Formats: sequence, C-alpha cells, structure tokens
Amino acid sequence: MFDRVVEAGDILPATEAIEMMDQVDLGPTIDIPEIPAGADPANITGEERRFLQGEIRRLKAERNALVLAHNYVPADIQDVADAVGDSLYLAQRGADSDADVLAEPSVLFMNQILAAMKKPHQKVLAPHLGALCSLAAHADVEKVRAWKEEHPDGLVISYVNTYIEVKAESDYCCASANAGKVLLHALEHSRPEQPILFLPDLFLGFYAARLMERRGQPLGRLWLMMGACHVHERIRPAHVEEQRRLHPGALTVVHPECGCTSACMRQVREGVVPETMLQFRSTQGMVALIKEVPQKEVIVATEVGNLHPMHKAVPEKTLIPASREALCAYMKQNTLANLYLSLRDMVHEITVDPELARRARIPIERMLRIL
Ligand code: 13P
Ligand code: SF4
Repeated sequence: MFDRVVEAGDILPATEAIEMMDQVDLGPTIDIPEIPAGADPANITGEERRFLQGEIRRLKAERNALVLAHNYVPADIQDVADAVGDSLYLAQRGADSDADVLAEPSVLFMNQILAAMKKPHQKVLAPHLGALCSLAAHADVEKVRAWKEEHPDGLVISYVNTYIEVKAESDYCCASANAGKVLLHALEHSRPEQPILFLPDLFLGFYAARLMERRGQPLGRLWLMMGACHVHERIRPAHVEEQRRLHPGALTVVHPECGCTSACMRQVREGVVPETMLQFRSTQGMVALIKEVPQKEVIVATEVGNLHPMHKAVPEKTLIPASREALCAYMKQNTLANLYLSLRDMVHEITVDPELARRARIPIERMLRIL
C-alpha cells in the first residue's frame, strides 16, 4: 500500500508506477462526447454519401487541399482521403506537402503537429473542434515543468498524444510506431545516470520499461506518467482471453496502449502463449502485420476504426475486435458532413503560438527522423 494519493497524470519512478498500475483510477478527466449519428456510415444514405464525397473531391481540387485521415475516423472519410494512416504517417505526409490546405480529420494534438510544421502559405483545418483526447488531457504541462525543475539534466520523451505546450517542454516526441526506437536512441545518446521521463501513457511506458530491461538497462533512471487512453485502457485481459477462447487458431495483435498490454506481455515472456500467436504493434504496424502472417483470423486489440484499413489491406482475412466497445468518441466527432463544411467554409483553422511551435518542432523533427 502507498501512503499518498496518486492520480491520473502524476509522475512516478517507473518501478513504483508499474506496481500501482491496477490501483490508480486512470479514467478520463475530460468529458467524453456523444458519438454523432453521422459517424456511422449506416446512418448515411447512398445519395448523401455520393453528394458529400463528390463535394469533398471537388473542394479538394478547388482549394488545393490534402485530406489526411487517421485510421480511427469513420470509414467513409477514410475512403475519400488522400492519405490514411497513424499519427506518425499523417505528420510525415503533412510535413512533405506543399498543398495550400491540410485538412486533417483526426484529433487536436495531431492537428497541432501539422500547424507547428506547416509552411507559411498553408492552412490547417479540423472538421470538428471537439476532437480531443483523454490521454493527452492527462499530460498536464505544469507537472512536466515541475519534474524538469527537480531533474534539471532529465530527458523528456513525449508520446505524440500530448498538446503543443507539453511537446515544447520535451526533448523527443514519439508515436506508437517508433516509441521503442526513440527510447533506444535517447538511451544511446544520454549519460547512464540521466533521468528519463516517458509520458503520458502508462501502458506504453510499461512496454518501454520492458524494452529497457531486455537491453540490460536499469529501470532506476526511468520515470512514468500515470496516464491512459480510456478506449485502450478498457481493453482488459478478459476481453482478449474470451476472444482467444472463441477463436483458438487466431493471431492476437495488441496496441501497447491497451489495458491488457502488461498481462499479454507476461504471457509471452512466461511462454504461456507463443510469440507467433500474440504480437504487439502500433496502429499502422497492425495494418502491415496482417499482410505478412499466415493466420486467417486475427483478434485486434485497438480502436475498432483500425479494422477498416486492415480489412482493405487483406479483405480475405477475418478480423475480430477484442472489444466492440473500443470506439474513440473524439475521433468519431469527424464526419463526412463536417469535413465537407470545413472545406467549403474554410473553418476550424488550427493555429499554434509561433514560439511554442518553434520549441515543439525540435522533438517533432526528431520523431520524424528516428524511424
Ligand atoms: P497512433 O500513433 O497509433 O496513430 O496513435 C494515436 C492514437 O491516438 C492512438 O490511440
Ligand atoms: Fe486519444 Fe485514445 Fe482517442 Fe487515441 S483512441 S485519440 S489515445 S482517446
């Protein structure tokens, strides 16, 4: 038992944070919005869809706009986008583009990356301003600043799910796709006694800690934030167990933000489940993985929107969501209708303070280089 109250967003030495993993309320500290009816393609008629997708295509050409859609937004938005991918891929595509308008159906922290990286002539548009993130909300910049004051030589590695103020305080950014590589880079380019803070996701932090151990690195220098995504955190070991029982031949693939990450890693480490049947992948890594594996059935532990690009990649495989309730209401604020209105009226421009953008570009550019 611990003699102080630990809350979501607190920063603890890694060993203590991992020990407390199941005892701390990691639930959302911001409201979860209703999912609008228009986020479900079943609620849109064929005629409406043709009209909206046709208008979006026309406006893209007229405005010289690039539509960058995250894997978790509704399928009919993905189908009309110029690029679909995870946060890292969308940041790369945005940074490489000369289009006049970057319209990004995703969530605010991703829009802010584009706004920090954009060229002077570009505008960044978000279809809806309510597309926030429960994980990013856990990452309080004041807590990060307090940690830095206590550890003046400390290194801060921020997961992409943080707002621009936190990125501006960070040495490195990483996404789920390159978290391990960024951590290893930071270890190689720092002194062995330098403290490292990895934030805000505790489950991904656990994954990072295991990676350090495998490299023979002592955990004593690692600090973690008690943060979580309410969608992934609610995918518990019991969900995965149940689907594995129903589909014994299926491969299970787990996003490391999930609440089942630590239990699944333990099962692989202890040989209870062979590595060939249980893998850990980022959002986009899952899309790549199913093309390569022999199994015809795959249990997918992440936000269910990711099943759409996975299905498009390999239509003949059966995809089974570990939990059908794993829906991100923030991502689902993006609809075909509000993407159309945003392009038509050029609304919901996302801007960031130029000084914050200058400081945040340093860790973001490192994230884009360490692949
Ligand atoms: P990705 O880097 O996997 O796109 O993660 C963003 C996110 O919000 C995952 O829930
Ligand atoms: Fe944030 Fe979770 Fe939604 Fe990703 S799935 S945007 S981490 S709330």
